[in-house]
Amino acid sequence: MKMRIGLLLAVLSMGALLGQDEAQFPGWMKTVGGNMGATKKALEAKSADAAVSAQKVADAFDKVHGFYKAKSVADAEQGAATAKAAAADIAKFAQAGDFDKASAAFGTLGGTCKGCHEAHREKAADGSYKMK
Ligand code: HEC
Repeated sequence: MKMRIGLLLAVLSMGALLGQDEAQFPGWMKTVGGNMGATKKALEAKSADAAVSAQKVADAFDKVHGFYKAKSVADAEQGAATAKAAAADIAKFAQAGDFDKASAAFGTLGGTCKGCHEAHREKAADGSYKMK
């Protein structure tokens, strides 16, 4: 009996956690969207500032990755992992002053958006985005 209650509580708290994360998801994507522009500009200017904004993108995708991993959505988990790794590469290369490699990683990062959005994002009637 105790076991069952324990299990029930575990399941309930998992659900609550997922619900909370889902509420945070748009914030992570806004962080991604906002910092993509800043990163692009900084890379064009060959500024190491690109590392700062790229790291924010990497941190946001770390959360997105954890979210989809918990939900066992394999393709989105993979997409988020690729995006996170590419953003971390930008930060690393920008810091090292290797802007060719940083820009290449930016291309990889930008290539992850569309696939995941087509599969997992839809536009609501009011023009805002939501998960599908
Ligand atoms: C692993 C899946 C995935 C990847 C990769 C991904 N997104 Fe998203 N994105 C979503 C989902 C799901 C939504 C809809 C839910 C939401 O709005 O938060 C979304 C919404 C957004 C929004 C709208 C946020 C809002 O609600 O106002 C922006 C901006 C955005 N993404 C930018 C990007 C950019 C830029 C990239 C690539 C660098 C990217 N995303 C990569 C899944 C992803």
